[in-house]
Amino acid sequence: MSAVELDFHLVRMTHGDVPTVMKNERRAYTHPWTEGIFIDCVKSGYECWLFVLEGRNIGHGVLSVAAAESHLLNVCINPDYHGSGYGRVLVQFMLDRAQQCGADCVFLEVRPSNHVACKLYHTLGFNEVGVRRNYYPAFTGREDALVLAKEFI
Ligand SMILES: CC(C)(COP(=O)(O)OP(=O)(O)OC[C@H]1O[C@@H](n2cnc3c(N)ncnc32)[C@H](O)[C@@H]1OP(=O)(O)O)[C@@H](O)C(=O)NCCC(=O)NCCS
Repeated sequence: MSAVELDFHLVRMTHGDVPTVMKNERRAYTHPWTEGIFIDCVKSGYECWLFVLEGRNIGHGVLSVAAAESHLLNVCINPDYHGSGYGRVLVQFMLDRAQQCGADCVFLEVRPSNHVACKLYHTLGFNEVGVRRNYYPAFTGREDALVLAKEFI
């Protein structure tokens, strides 16, 4: 689905945005990041962006770039807005930022049970390159992570 024709844009996340970021984060994830993780990411100079729709923060993306390698650490759209194409726009934007920052590849981890995200990443050219055993907390025990990678050619 292509993004609905509404007024959206991507804005750099600041320390002051973290409380609204946490609202989307808690709604979207079963095991959300903490406020402290977002604050550390902003402080560390990571690529931290907000997805703003008609003046309202509805999602965020966090990317680290070191030398030619980058890592997509978080992608989130508030569930009220799922399925409208915004997640795809957000991930593509983060990939563009990775390239602009000099990366020639992007890595990420995803839960194998997260079929929506897996499908999105595969359609954007990511390939599975490994598995991290027991990487994520789950409601019962732990869940593996698939490691996906995309090279910019
Ligand atoms: C993953 C996430 C960002 C996708 O956001 P979204 O705005 O709903 O996604 P989009 O509407 O842009 O859809 C993007 C693609 O996801 C897949 N997708 C979306 N909804 C789907 C569904 N119900 N079933 C299967 N695939 C689906 C499709 O491939 C879709 O592309 P297409 O419509 O061109 O076929 C969103 O679901 C989310 O925030 N999830 C919670 C946090 C999360 O899991 N983040 C990823 C961690 S690795």
